[in-house]
This record gives sequence, structure tokens and C-alpha cells, in this order.
Amino acid sequence: MITVVGGTGRLGRLVAAQLMDLGNEVRIVARHAGDLPAGAEFVAADMRDASTIAPALRGSATVISAINGLDPAGGQSPAEVDRDGNLRLIAAARDTGAHVVLMSIIGARTDSPIEIARMKAVAEQALRDAHGLEWTIVRAALFAELWRDLLRQTAGRSGRPIVFGRGENPINVVSVADVAQAVARAAVDPSLRGRVIDVGGPRNVTMNELAAWATGSAKPRHVSRGMLRVGAVAATPVRPAIARLMRQALAMDTADLTFDPSFAHTEYPWLASRDIVGSPG
Ligand SMILES: NC(=O)c1ccc[n+]([C@@H]2O[C@H](COP(=O)([O-])OP(=O)(O)OC[C@H]3O[C@@H](n4cnc5c(N)ncnc54)[C@H](OP(=O)(O)O)[C@@H]3O)[C@@H](O)[C@H]2O)c1
Repeated sequence: MITVVGGTGRLGRLVAAQLMDLGNEVRIVARHAGDLPAGAEFVAADMRDASTIAPALRGSATVISAINGLDPAGGQSPAEVDRDGNLRLIAAARDTGAHVVLMSIIGARTDSPIEIARMKAVAEQALRDAHGLEWTIVRAALFAELWRDLLRQTAGRSGRPIVFGRGENPINVVSVADVAQAVARAAVDPSLRGRVIDVGGPRNVTMNELAAWATGSAKPRHVSRGMLRVGAVAATPVRPAIARLMRQALAMDTADLTFDPSFAHTEYPWLASRDIVGSPG
């Protein structure tokens, strides 16, 4: 049994479908069932509640963590989900003897300017330190499809998407389908145990370029860095999830988020790398 925690999300549902196509028995775990692929077993569990985790992982040979605490609609935080939720998941997987595939972020480190990357770094370290546990870490760049959809939503009827900051900072983006392929392979290929696989795309693009690709508009509307700084401070006590997104937007507008995928492709020649931003949005 391969259990995909977060198997209803953008990435997790592609991973679950691929694993089922390969003939694996798949269980999907999340808080809400949502749209499930036909034939998948579903178990509800919340990684913030330890008592729900062990029953959800029972009988799993491999557990994939594709959970995400950044979604402001989710009512939770990266500290609660990407750090503490993963720590609970890792502890429960150790008890069942399951191999863990952890979804992380390229550039995850404890001093990253991006909060979720700091939380993933703590989870990665806990996984490496877990005695007697087999693991694989898959680190991905920004999902192009997520930003395509977000930019289209902000464009609305005006057709002009909203870009946070100047939008001139190059960022590596990858197709979520390529990440799903790597995660599914990590789950079933024993030679990938104990490995960290970086999955990035062939291009570093600016938010302005992404906005043009997503909407066809070369004239996005901008929220200035100053507005983001002031907004983040003002929103912290009342809307912490919005404040978090503003801080992340600032970091994405300024930090080095470029990536060269050539080293990963030399090590893992099977990695896919479609030029999604070079294709029609
Ligand atoms: N999006 C990106 O650009 C990007 C880049 C690099 C890495 N990643 C990583 O890739 C993974 C997948 O990202 P995604 O964009 O596909 O995420 P997503 O669409 O937001 O899906 C998140 C999944 O996690 C589940 N989940 C959230 N909180 C949970 C909790 N407390 N307990 C149990 N399940 C929970 C959600 O279902 P419920 O809400 O029903 O619980 C959903 O199935 C994440 O680990 C993310 O950090 C994403």
C-alpha cells in the first residue's frame, strides 16, 4: 500500500493517479475527501492531530507527504503543517516501518527568507535523523500551473493580472506534472532511498513574464514592495495568513530563486523537464 498524504491536492492527486496507473494499491489521506480518482481508498486525517495519523498510515509500505500549510483558505500555517505535521507523520511512519517520501522545496534551509522553506528544512532534517527509517526527499521549484491559475484569477475581467512587487526577479518554475512523475518514481524505485531529488524546470522567469504567459497581458498591475511591507505588518495581528503571503511575495521579489536543473538531470536522466512556460498558457 502506498499512502499519499495530501493526495487530493494539485500535486498529490497526479501522484496518486500515476501510482494507480502503475498498478499500485493507493490510499489517499487528507482532511476532506474532495474529488478522488476512481478506485482510490480515502482515509480522513489531520496531520495536526496525532491521534488521526497512525490509523491513516496503517499497512503502508510507503508514505508520501504532499501536505501544504500555506493555503490561506486552509486555516493553518506552514509551522503547523509543513513542520509539525510532517514531524508527526515521520514519527508515525517510523512506528509502522514505512518508507517516507517527503515533498520539499528547492532552497529549503533554516535561514531561508521564505517561511515555508524554513519549515520544510526542519522536516527534512528530522527525516534524515530518524533512526531506522528509509526516506527520499523530492524538492521542487515553483509550480508553473499554480501561478498561471492565480495570475488568471487576479486578472479577472480587466485582463490585467496582479503582480506583487516589481516582478523582475527571475524564479525557476516547473510543471507540476514533472514533479508528480519524480515523486511517483521515488515511491517505487528502491535505488532512490536516501536520495534528495531536485526537480526544477528549464527556465528561470520573472513574475512579469509569467503573468504575460498566463494571461496574454504585458501590462500587469503591481502592488509595490512598500505596500507589501506595510500590509504585512498591519495584517499580522488580524489576518496572519495574508501577512504571511505578503512576506512571501516580498521574498519572491528579491531573493535568489533561480535554479540550474542540469546537475539533477545528469544524476537522474529520467527526470522530465517540459518547457511549460514556452508553450501556450
Ligand atoms: N505549489 C508550489 O509551487 C510548490 C513548490 C514546491 C513544493 N511544493 C510542495 O508540494 C506539495 C504539494 O503542493 P500543492 O500545491 O499540490 O498543495 P495543495 O494543492 O495545497 O494540496 C495540499 C494537500 O494537503 C492536504 N492537507 C493540507 N493540510 C493538511 C493537514 N493538516 N492534514 C492532512 N492533509 C492536509 C490538502 O487536503 P485538505 O485541505 O483536505 O486537508 C491537500 O490534499 C506540498 O508539500 C508543497 O509544499 C509546492
